[in-house]
Amino acid sequence: MEHLSYDVIIHGGWIVDGTGEPRYRADIGIIDQKIFAIGDLNVHYAAAAHLIDAHQRVVAPGFIDVHGHDDLMFVARPGLEWKTSQGVTTVIVGNCGVSAAPRPIAGNVAAALALLGDTPLFGSFSAYFAQLEAIRPMINVAALVGHANLRLSAMSDPVADPNPQEQQTMETLLDQALRAGAIGLSTGLAYAPGGNAKTAELLGLVRVAAKHGAIHTSHIRNEADDVEAAVDEVLSLGHEAGCATVISHHKCMMPANWGRTVRTLANFDGFRNQGIKAAMDVYPYNASSTILIPERSDLIEDIKITWSEPHPECAGAYLSDLAARWQCSRREAAERLTPAGAIYFAMEEADVQRVLSHPCCMVGSDGLPDDENPHPRLWGTFPRVLRKYVRQTQLLTLEHAVAKMTSLPASVFGLSGRGKVKVGMHADIVVFDPDTVQDRATWESPTLRSAGIDHVLVNGVEVHASTPPIRPGHVLKRSTSLR
Ligand code: ZN
Ligand code: CU
Repeated sequence: MEHLSYDVIIHGGWIVDGTGEPRYRADIGIIDQKIFAIGDLNVHYAAAAHLIDAHQRVVAPGFIDVHGHDDLMFVARPGLEWKTSQGVTTVIVGNCGVSAAPRPIAGNVAAALALLGDTPLFGSFSAYFAQLEAIRPMINVAALVGHANLRLSAMSDPVADPNPQEQQTMETLLDQALRAGAIGLSTGLAYAPGGNAKTAELLGLVRVAAKHGAIHTSHIRNEADDVEAAVDEVLSLGHEAGCATVISHHKCMMPANWGRTVRTLANFDGFRNQGIKAAMDVYPYNASSTILIPERSDLIEDIKITWSEPHPECAGAYLSDLAARWQCSRREAAERLTPAGAIYFAMEEADVQRVLSHPCCMVGSDGLPDDENPHPRLWGTFPRVLRKYVRQTQLLTLEHAVAKMTSLPASVFGLSGRGKVKVGMHADIVVFDPDTVQDRATWESPTLRSAGIDHVLVNGVEVHASTPPIRPGHVLKRSTSLR
Protein backbone atom coordinates (compact mmCIF):
# COMPACT_ATOMS: atom_id res chain seq x y z
CA MET A 1 0.00 0.00 0.00
CA GLU A 2 2.99 2.36 0.13
CA HIS A 3 2.63 5.75 -1.52
CA LEU A 4 -0.56 4.82 -3.27
CA SER A 5 -2.60 7.86 -3.97
CA TYR A 6 -6.31 7.22 -4.35
CA ASP A 7 -8.90 9.43 -5.95
CA VAL A 8 -11.39 8.39 -3.27
CA ILE A 9 -11.22 6.28 -0.12
CA ILE A 10 -14.41 5.08 1.54
CA HIS A 11 -13.35 4.35 5.07
CA GLY A 12 -14.68 2.02 7.72
CA GLY A 13 -18.02 0.89 6.26
CA TRP A 14 -19.81 -2.43 6.09
CA ILE A 15 -19.44 -3.78 2.56
CA VAL A 16 -22.61 -5.39 1.17
CA ASP A 17 -21.00 -6.42 -2.06
CA GLY A 18 -24.10 -7.13 -4.18
CA THR A 19 -23.58 -10.88 -4.49
CA GLY A 20 -25.87 -11.70 -1.57
CA GLU A 21 -22.91 -12.75 0.62
CA PRO A 22 -22.82 -11.50 4.24
CA ARG A 23 -21.48 -8.00 4.90
CA TYR A 24 -17.94 -7.40 6.12
CA ARG A 25 -15.90 -4.41 7.31
CA ALA A 26 -13.41 -2.88 4.86
CA ASP A 27 -12.15 0.29 3.22
CA ILE A 28 -12.45 0.84 -0.51
CA GLY A 29 -9.86 2.66 -2.62
CA ILE A 30 -10.88 4.09 -5.98
CA ILE A 31 -8.50 5.04 -8.76
CA ASP A 32 -9.47 6.16 -12.23
CA GLN A 33 -13.22 5.39 -11.96
CA LYS A 34 -12.68 1.85 -10.71
CA ILE A 35 -12.42 -0.01 -7.44
CA PHE A 36 -8.68 -0.51 -7.04
CA ALA A 37 -8.45 -1.96 -3.54
CA ILE A 38 -10.68 -3.38 -0.82
CA GLY A 39 -9.33 -4.06 2.66
CA ASP A 40 -7.56 -2.19 5.42
CA LEU A 41 -6.13 0.74 3.49
CA ASN A 42 -4.45 2.22 6.52
CA VAL A 43 -6.11 5.56 5.84
CA HIS A 44 -3.93 7.48 8.25
CA TYR A 45 -1.07 7.00 5.84
CA ALA A 46 -2.66 6.49 2.43
CA ALA A 47 -3.42 9.61 0.45
CA ALA A 48 -6.79 10.31 -1.07
CA ALA A 49 -8.11 13.36 -2.85
CA HIS A 50 -11.50 12.61 -1.28
CA LEU A 51 -12.06 10.70 1.95
CA ILE A 52 -15.54 9.43 2.78
CA ASP A 53 -16.21 8.37 6.36
CA ALA A 54 -18.51 5.33 6.19
CA HIS A 55 -18.49 4.23 9.85
CA GLN A 56 -21.86 2.72 10.87
CA ARG A 57 -22.82 2.79 7.22
CA VAL A 58 -23.41 0.21 4.52
CA VAL A 59 -21.32 0.49 1.36
CA ALA A 60 -23.07 -1.22 -1.56
CA PRO A 61 -22.97 -1.21 -5.36
CA GLY A 62 -25.00 1.67 -6.80
CA PHE A 63 -28.57 0.59 -7.45
CA ILE A 64 -29.59 -0.40 -10.97
CA ASP A 65 -33.13 0.71 -11.80
CA VAL A 66 -34.19 -1.84 -14.41
CA HIS A 67 -37.38 -0.04 -15.36
CA GLY A 68 -37.12 3.67 -16.12
CA HIS A 69 -38.86 6.10 -18.45
CA ASP A 70 -36.14 8.74 -18.16
CA ASP A 71 -35.11 8.39 -21.82
CA LEU A 72 -35.59 12.06 -22.65
CA MET A 73 -35.02 13.42 -19.14
CA PHE A 74 -31.30 12.91 -19.73
CA VAL A 75 -31.80 15.74 -22.24
CA ALA A 76 -34.56 17.80 -20.62
CA ARG A 77 -33.64 17.66 -16.91
CA PRO A 78 -30.20 16.06 -16.78
CA GLY A 79 -29.76 16.46 -13.01
CA LEU A 80 -31.96 13.36 -12.48
CA GLU A 81 -32.32 14.06 -8.74
CA TRP A 82 -35.14 11.53 -8.43
CA LYS A 83 -32.56 8.88 -9.28
CA THR A 84 -29.40 10.09 -7.56
CA SER A 85 -31.21 10.84 -4.29
CA GLN A 86 -32.19 7.16 -4.04
CA GLY A 87 -28.71 5.79 -4.75
CA VAL A 88 -29.51 4.78 -8.32
CA THR A 89 -26.37 4.86 -10.47
CA THR A 90 -27.67 3.08 -13.60
CA VAL A 91 -31.07 3.08 -15.27
CA ILE A 92 -32.48 0.96 -18.08
CA VAL A 93 -34.74 3.11 -20.27
CA GLY A 94 -36.90 2.34 -23.30
CA ASN A 95 -39.45 0.29 -21.37
CA CYS A 96 -43.08 -0.59 -22.05
CA GLY A 97 -42.64 -0.35 -25.82
CA VAL A 98 -41.72 3.34 -25.89
CA SER A 99 -38.22 4.75 -26.37
CA ALA A 100 -36.41 7.93 -27.41
CA ALA A 101 -35.88 6.56 -30.93
CA PRO A 102 -36.76 5.90 -33.68
CA ARG A 103 -39.09 8.85 -34.26
CA PRO A 104 -42.55 8.06 -35.73
CA ILE A 105 -43.31 8.98 -39.30
CA ALA A 106 -45.34 12.17 -39.63
CA GLY A 107 -48.95 11.76 -38.53
CA ASN A 108 -48.39 8.61 -36.44
CA VAL A 109 -49.13 9.10 -32.76
CA ALA A 110 -49.58 6.90 -29.69
CA ALA A 111 -50.90 7.91 -26.28
CA ALA A 112 -48.26 5.80 -24.51
CA LEU A 113 -45.49 8.05 -25.84
CA ALA A 114 -46.70 10.54 -23.20
CA LEU A 115 -44.82 8.37 -20.66
CA LEU A 116 -41.66 10.02 -22.01
CA GLY A 117 -42.75 13.67 -21.71
CA ASP A 118 -42.78 16.11 -24.58
CA THR A 119 -39.11 16.38 -25.57
CA PRO A 120 -38.79 15.50 -29.28
CA LEU A 121 -37.76 11.94 -30.10
CA PHE A 122 -34.63 11.05 -32.07
CA GLY A 123 -34.49 9.66 -35.59
CA SER A 124 -32.20 6.80 -34.64
CA PHE A 125 -30.45 5.23 -31.67
CA SER A 126 -27.09 6.37 -32.95
CA ALA A 127 -28.34 9.98 -32.91
CA TYR A 128 -29.83 9.48 -29.42
CA PHE A 129 -26.64 7.97 -28.01
CA ALA A 130 -24.50 10.67 -29.65
CA GLN A 131 -26.62 13.30 -27.94
CA LEU A 132 -26.42 11.57 -24.55
CA GLU A 133 -22.66 11.33 -24.87
CA ALA A 134 -22.39 14.98 -25.90
CA ILE A 135 -24.36 16.29 -22.91
CA ARG A 136 -22.96 13.56 -20.60
CA PRO A 137 -25.43 11.61 -18.49
CA MET A 138 -25.55 12.10 -14.73
CA ILE A 139 -25.86 8.34 -14.16
CA ASN A 140 -25.18 5.36 -16.40
CA VAL A 141 -27.87 4.54 -18.91
CA ALA A 142 -28.66 1.57 -21.13
CA ALA A 143 -31.59 1.59 -23.55
CA LEU A 144 -34.15 -0.78 -24.96
CA VAL A 145 -35.83 -0.26 -28.32
CA GLY A 146 -39.58 0.35 -28.04
CA HIS A 147 -41.80 -1.83 -30.17
CA ALA A 148 -44.35 1.00 -30.47
CA ASN A 149 -41.64 3.18 -32.00
CA LEU A 150 -40.94 0.46 -34.56
CA ARG A 151 -44.59 0.24 -35.54
CA LEU A 152 -44.99 4.02 -35.64
CA SER A 153 -41.84 4.37 -37.76
CA ALA A 154 -42.54 1.56 -40.19
CA MET A 155 -46.29 1.33 -40.69
CA SER A 156 -48.59 3.72 -42.53
CA ASP A 157 -51.45 2.51 -40.31
CA PRO A 158 -49.76 1.63 -37.02
CA VAL A 159 -52.76 -0.20 -35.54
CA ALA A 160 -53.17 -2.54 -38.52
CA ASP A 161 -51.31 -5.80 -39.21
CA PRO A 162 -47.92 -5.13 -40.76
CA ASN A 163 -47.54 -6.16 -44.38
CA PRO A 164 -44.38 -8.12 -45.24
CA GLN A 165 -42.56 -4.95 -46.26
CA GLU A 166 -43.47 -3.22 -42.99
CA GLN A 167 -42.42 -6.25 -40.96
CA GLN A 168 -39.09 -6.20 -42.76
CA THR A 169 -38.69 -2.48 -42.05
CA MET A 170 -39.36 -3.00 -38.33
CA GLU A 171 -36.80 -5.82 -38.17
CA THR A 172 -34.25 -3.67 -39.98
CA LEU A 173 -34.84 -0.70 -37.66
CA LEU A 174 -34.43 -2.97 -34.63
CA ASP A 175 -31.28 -4.48 -36.08
CA GLN A 176 -29.82 -0.99 -36.64
CA ALA A 177 -30.69 0.12 -33.10
CA LEU A 178 -29.08 -2.99 -31.60
CA ARG A 179 -25.97 -2.42 -33.71
CA ALA A 180 -25.88 1.16 -32.41
CA GLY A 181 -25.71 -0.25 -28.87
CA ALA A 182 -29.28 -0.66 -27.64
CA ILE A 183 -29.46 -3.64 -25.27
CA GLY A 184 -32.76 -5.15 -26.36
CA LEU A 185 -36.38 -4.86 -27.44
CA SER A 186 -39.27 -3.81 -25.19
CA THR A 187 -42.93 -4.35 -25.95
CA GLY A 188 -45.99 -2.62 -24.48
CA LEU A 189 -48.70 -5.09 -25.38
CA ALA A 190 -51.27 -3.43 -23.14
CA TYR A 191 -51.11 -0.24 -25.18
CA ALA A 192 -51.88 0.80 -28.73
CA PRO A 193 -50.27 0.23 -31.15
CA GLY A 194 -48.15 -2.56 -29.59
CA GLY A 195 -51.24 -4.46 -28.49
CA ASN A 196 -52.28 -4.91 -32.11
CA ALA A 197 -49.29 -7.18 -32.69
CA LYS A 198 -49.83 -10.90 -33.21
CA THR A 199 -47.44 -13.75 -32.62
CA ALA A 200 -45.69 -13.79 -36.02
CA GLU A 201 -44.76 -10.12 -35.82
CA LEU A 202 -43.47 -10.37 -32.26
CA LEU A 203 -41.61 -13.58 -32.92
CA GLY A 204 -39.87 -12.00 -35.93
CA LEU A 205 -38.69 -9.10 -33.77
CA VAL A 206 -37.70 -11.20 -30.76
CA ARG A 207 -35.63 -13.36 -33.12
CA VAL A 208 -33.71 -10.26 -34.21
CA ALA A 209 -32.97 -9.51 -30.56
CA ALA A 210 -31.91 -13.11 -29.96
CA LYS A 211 -29.57 -13.03 -32.96
CA HIS A 212 -27.69 -10.18 -31.27
CA GLY A 213 -27.67 -11.85 -27.87
CA ALA A 214 -29.91 -8.98 -26.73
CA ILE A 215 -32.83 -9.10 -24.32
CA HIS A 216 -36.63 -8.94 -24.68
CA THR A 217 -38.74 -7.22 -22.04
CA SER A 218 -42.50 -6.82 -21.95
CA HIS A 219 -45.28 -4.87 -20.36
CA ILE A 220 -47.54 -7.85 -20.94
CA ARG A 221 -50.88 -7.77 -22.72
CA ASN A 222 -53.02 -8.12 -19.61
CA GLU A 223 -52.31 -7.69 -15.91
CA ALA A 224 -55.84 -8.55 -14.72
CA ASP A 225 -58.26 -11.34 -15.73
CA ASP A 226 -55.99 -12.72 -18.47
CA VAL A 227 -52.69 -12.29 -16.66
CA GLU A 228 -51.67 -15.94 -16.83
CA ALA A 229 -52.09 -16.17 -20.60
CA ALA A 230 -50.25 -12.87 -20.96
CA VAL A 231 -47.26 -14.13 -18.96
CA ASP A 232 -47.22 -17.33 -21.00
CA GLU A 233 -47.34 -15.35 -24.25
CA VAL A 234 -44.10 -13.45 -23.68
CA LEU A 235 -42.26 -16.36 -22.11
CA SER A 236 -43.29 -18.54 -25.07
CA LEU A 237 -41.84 -15.94 -27.43
CA GLY A 238 -38.61 -15.99 -25.47
CA HIS A 239 -38.57 -19.77 -25.50
CA GLU A 240 -39.35 -20.03 -29.21
CA ALA A 241 -36.77 -17.41 -30.22
CA GLY A 242 -34.15 -18.41 -27.65
CA CYS A 243 -34.17 -14.90 -26.20
CA ALA A 244 -33.66 -13.83 -22.60
CA THR A 245 -36.99 -12.38 -21.44
CA VAL A 246 -38.06 -10.03 -18.66
CA ILE A 247 -41.65 -9.57 -17.44
CA SER A 248 -41.89 -5.89 -16.50
CA HIS A 249 -43.54 -4.65 -13.29
CA HIS A 250 -45.26 -7.95 -12.62
CA LYS A 251 -48.63 -7.62 -10.91
CA CYS A 252 -52.21 -8.90 -10.74
CA MET A 253 -54.79 -6.12 -10.83
CA MET A 254 -58.39 -6.10 -9.54
CA PRO A 255 -59.60 -7.91 -6.41
CA ALA A 256 -60.86 -10.89 -8.44
CA ASN A 257 -57.26 -11.57 -9.50
CA TRP A 258 -55.50 -11.07 -6.18
CA GLY A 259 -53.44 -14.07 -5.28
CA ARG A 260 -52.96 -15.21 -8.86
CA THR A 261 -49.23 -14.49 -8.64
CA VAL A 262 -49.04 -17.95 -7.05
CA ARG A 263 -49.91 -19.36 -10.47
CA THR A 264 -48.05 -16.86 -12.66
CA LEU A 265 -44.87 -17.47 -10.68
CA ALA A 266 -45.30 -21.25 -10.87
CA ASN A 267 -45.69 -20.96 -14.65
CA PHE A 268 -42.67 -18.68 -14.77
CA ASP A 269 -40.64 -21.30 -12.90
CA GLY A 270 -41.88 -23.90 -15.37
CA PHE A 271 -40.42 -21.89 -18.27
CA ARG A 272 -37.15 -21.41 -16.39
CA ASN A 273 -36.97 -25.15 -15.86
CA GLN A 274 -37.19 -25.59 -19.63
CA GLY A 275 -34.02 -23.55 -19.90
CA ILE A 276 -35.33 -20.12 -20.87
CA LYS A 277 -33.49 -17.22 -19.36
CA ALA A 278 -36.28 -15.31 -17.71
CA ALA A 279 -36.50 -12.64 -15.04
CA MET A 280 -38.98 -10.05 -13.83
CA ASP A 281 -39.15 -6.78 -11.98
CA VAL A 282 -41.51 -5.11 -9.56
CA TYR A 283 -41.97 -1.77 -7.81
CA PRO A 284 -42.70 -1.91 -4.08
CA TYR A 285 -46.19 -0.39 -4.07
CA ASN A 286 -49.71 -1.79 -4.35
CA ALA A 287 -50.86 0.82 -6.86
CA SER A 288 -49.84 1.21 -10.49
CA SER A 289 -49.53 4.26 -12.72
CA THR A 290 -49.67 5.01 -16.43
CA ILE A 291 -51.74 7.10 -18.82
CA LEU A 292 -55.38 7.61 -17.86
CA ILE A 293 -57.44 4.92 -19.59
CA PRO A 294 -61.14 5.97 -19.42
CA GLU A 295 -62.41 2.35 -19.66
CA ARG A 296 -60.74 1.64 -16.33
CA SER A 297 -62.88 4.23 -14.55
CA ASP A 298 -65.74 1.73 -14.44
CA LEU A 299 -63.53 -1.06 -13.09
CA ILE A 300 -61.25 0.53 -10.52
CA GLU A 301 -62.61 2.36 -7.50
CA ASP A 302 -59.63 4.52 -6.55
CA ILE A 303 -58.02 6.47 -9.38
CA LYS A 304 -55.79 9.48 -8.74
CA ILE A 305 -54.91 11.90 -11.54
CA THR A 306 -51.18 12.51 -12.05
CA TRP A 307 -51.41 15.04 -14.90
CA SER A 308 -53.95 16.27 -17.41
CA GLU A 309 -53.37 18.28 -20.51
CA PRO A 310 -56.79 20.03 -20.64
CA HIS A 311 -57.07 20.25 -16.83
CA PRO A 312 -53.60 20.66 -15.33
CA GLU A 313 -55.19 21.95 -12.11
CA CYS A 314 -56.62 18.45 -11.52
CA ALA A 315 -53.22 16.79 -10.98
CA GLY A 316 -53.32 15.17 -7.55
CA ALA A 317 -57.14 14.93 -7.41
CA TYR A 318 -59.18 11.72 -7.24
CA LEU A 319 -61.40 10.87 -10.18
CA SER A 320 -64.47 10.35 -7.96
CA ASP A 321 -64.11 13.83 -6.48
CA LEU A 322 -63.81 15.36 -9.92
CA ALA A 323 -66.88 13.48 -11.13
CA ALA A 324 -68.82 14.75 -8.10
CA ARG A 325 -67.59 18.30 -8.63
CA TRP A 326 -68.49 18.18 -12.32
CA GLN A 327 -71.74 16.30 -11.65
CA CYS A 328 -70.96 13.69 -14.27
CA SER A 329 -70.06 10.00 -14.37
CA ARG A 330 -66.51 8.91 -13.56
CA ARG A 331 -66.19 7.72 -17.12
CA GLU A 332 -67.17 11.12 -18.47
CA ALA A 333 -64.81 12.88 -16.08
CA ALA A 334 -62.01 10.64 -17.35
CA GLU A 335 -62.87 11.44 -20.96
CA ARG A 336 -62.72 15.16 -20.17
CA LEU A 337 -59.31 14.81 -18.51
CA THR A 338 -57.49 12.94 -21.31
CA PRO A 339 -54.77 13.11 -22.41
CA ALA A 340 -53.87 12.49 -18.80
CA GLY A 341 -52.08 10.19 -16.40
CA ALA A 342 -53.34 8.26 -13.38
CA ILE A 343 -52.53 6.10 -10.38
CA TYR A 344 -54.70 2.98 -10.04
CA PHE A 345 -55.18 1.45 -6.60
CA ALA A 346 -55.96 -2.13 -7.59
CA MET A 347 -53.24 -4.45 -6.28
CA GLU A 348 -52.83 -6.61 -3.21
CA GLU A 349 -49.85 -6.26 -0.91
CA ALA A 350 -49.43 -10.05 -0.64
CA ASP A 351 -48.92 -10.28 -4.41
CA VAL A 352 -46.34 -7.49 -4.32
CA GLN A 353 -44.43 -9.33 -1.60
CA ARG A 354 -44.69 -12.69 -3.35
CA VAL A 355 -43.29 -11.26 -6.57
CA LEU A 356 -40.55 -9.26 -4.85
CA SER A 357 -39.32 -12.27 -2.94
CA HIS A 358 -39.05 -14.48 -6.03
CA PRO A 359 -35.34 -15.21 -6.63
CA CYS A 360 -35.54 -13.94 -10.24
CA CYS A 361 -37.21 -10.66 -9.33
CA MET A 362 -35.37 -7.37 -9.64
CA VAL A 363 -36.46 -3.89 -8.57
CA GLY A 364 -37.58 -1.34 -11.16
CA SER A 365 -39.15 2.00 -10.29
CA ASP A 366 -41.27 2.55 -13.41
CA GLY A 367 -41.01 6.18 -12.29
CA LEU A 368 -42.65 8.76 -14.52
CA PRO A 369 -40.53 11.90 -14.13
CA ASP A 370 -42.64 14.11 -16.37
CA ASP A 371 -45.82 13.68 -14.32
CA GLU A 372 -47.07 16.74 -12.45
CA ASN A 373 -48.16 14.73 -9.41
CA PRO A 374 -46.35 11.45 -9.92
CA HIS A 375 -46.67 8.03 -8.34
CA PRO A 376 -44.26 8.11 -5.35
CA ARG A 377 -42.27 5.21 -6.85
CA LEU A 378 -40.42 7.85 -8.88
CA TRP A 379 -38.66 9.22 -5.79
CA GLY A 380 -39.04 6.39 -3.28
CA THR A 381 -38.65 2.91 -4.77
CA PHE A 382 -35.17 1.85 -3.63
CA PRO A 383 -35.12 3.31 -0.10
CA ARG A 384 -38.66 1.92 0.32
CA VAL A 385 -37.45 -1.62 -0.31
CA LEU A 386 -34.73 -1.10 2.30
CA ARG A 387 -37.11 0.45 4.82
CA LYS A 388 -40.27 -1.56 4.35
CA TYR A 389 -39.13 -4.96 3.13
CA VAL A 390 -35.76 -5.22 4.87
CA ARG A 391 -35.98 -3.25 8.11
CA GLN A 392 -39.69 -3.37 8.95
CA THR A 393 -41.26 -6.55 7.57
CA GLN A 394 -37.96 -8.46 7.13
CA LEU A 395 -39.26 -10.02 3.94
CA LEU A 396 -35.68 -9.82 2.60
CA THR A 397 -32.29 -9.68 4.23
CA LEU A 398 -30.32 -6.56 3.45
CA GLU A 399 -27.81 -8.59 1.44
CA HIS A 400 -30.60 -10.24 -0.54
CA ALA A 401 -32.38 -6.95 -1.26
CA VAL A 402 -29.16 -5.31 -2.41
CA ALA A 403 -28.46 -8.23 -4.75
CA LYS A 404 -31.87 -7.73 -6.38
CA MET A 405 -30.96 -4.10 -7.02
CA THR A 406 -27.38 -4.66 -8.23
CA SER A 407 -25.74 -7.92 -9.32
CA LEU A 408 -28.96 -9.61 -10.50
CA PRO A 409 -29.91 -6.79 -12.90
CA ALA A 410 -26.30 -6.42 -14.06
CA SER A 411 -26.24 -10.07 -15.05
CA VAL A 412 -29.74 -10.13 -16.58
CA PHE A 413 -29.10 -7.04 -18.70
CA GLY A 414 -25.46 -7.86 -19.45
CA LEU A 415 -23.97 -4.77 -17.79
CA SER A 416 -20.41 -5.98 -17.46
CA GLY A 417 -18.21 -4.61 -14.71
CA ARG A 418 -21.14 -3.31 -12.67
CA GLY A 419 -23.41 -4.44 -9.86
CA LYS A 420 -20.78 -5.68 -7.39
CA VAL A 421 -18.26 -4.18 -5.03
CA LYS A 422 -15.18 -6.09 -6.18
CA VAL A 423 -11.70 -5.04 -7.23
CA GLY A 424 -11.69 -4.03 -10.89
CA MET A 425 -15.37 -3.12 -11.04
CA HIS A 426 -16.56 0.35 -12.03
CA ALA A 427 -16.89 2.48 -8.91
CA ASP A 428 -20.67 2.86 -8.83
CA ILE A 429 -21.29 2.94 -5.08
CA VAL A 430 -23.95 3.97 -2.59
CA VAL A 431 -23.27 4.61 1.10
CA PHE A 432 -26.35 4.54 3.33
CA ASP A 433 -27.46 4.18 6.92
CA PRO A 434 -29.29 0.84 7.23
CA ASP A 435 -31.07 2.01 10.39
CA THR A 436 -32.59 5.18 8.95
CA VAL A 437 -32.73 4.78 5.17
CA GLN A 438 -36.31 5.43 4.09
CA ASP A 439 -38.58 6.68 1.35
CA ARG A 440 -40.42 9.88 2.20
CA ALA A 441 -42.47 10.26 -0.99
CA THR A 442 -46.15 9.49 -0.33
CA TRP A 443 -49.39 9.53 -2.28
CA GLU A 444 -50.00 13.03 -0.89
CA SER A 445 -46.45 14.37 -1.20
CA PRO A 446 -44.94 12.28 -3.96
CA THR A 447 -41.76 14.22 -4.66
CA LEU A 448 -40.16 14.22 -1.21
CA ARG A 449 -36.58 13.01 -1.25
CA SER A 450 -35.62 9.84 0.52
CA ALA A 451 -33.59 9.98 3.72
CA GLY A 452 -30.54 8.05 4.84
CA ILE A 453 -28.66 7.93 1.54
CA ASP A 454 -25.36 9.58 2.43
CA HIS A 455 -23.12 9.25 -0.63
CA VAL A 456 -23.63 8.21 -4.24
CA LEU A 457 -20.70 7.66 -6.57
CA VAL A 458 -21.06 7.13 -10.31
CA ASN A 459 -17.85 5.92 -11.93
CA GLY A 460 -15.93 7.09 -8.86
CA VAL A 461 -17.37 10.62 -8.80
CA GLU A 462 -19.69 11.70 -5.99
CA VAL A 463 -23.00 13.02 -7.32
CA HIS A 464 -25.25 13.25 -4.30
CA ALA A 465 -23.85 16.18 -2.32
CA SER A 466 -23.71 18.67 -5.15
CA THR A 467 -23.69 18.60 -8.90
CA PRO A 468 -20.27 17.40 -10.03
CA PRO A 469 -18.32 19.59 -12.46
CA ILE A 470 -18.75 17.00 -15.17
CA ARG A 471 -21.65 14.58 -15.18
CA PRO A 472 -19.97 11.21 -14.61
CA GLY A 473 -22.38 8.66 -16.14
CA HIS A 474 -21.66 6.49 -19.15
CA VAL A 475 -23.88 5.30 -21.97
CA LEU A 476 -23.74 1.51 -21.57
CA LYS A 477 -23.94 -0.01 -25.01
CA ARG A 478 -24.53 -3.61 -25.84
CA SER A 479 -21.40 -5.24 -27.09
CA THR A 480 -20.51 -8.79 -27.93
CA SER A 481 -18.44 -8.93 -24.77
CA LEU A 482 -21.48 -8.25 -22.62
CA ARG A 483 -22.78 -11.76 -22.28
ZN1 ZN B 1 -45.34 -0.69 -18.32
CU1 CU C 1 -43.05 1.29 -17.61
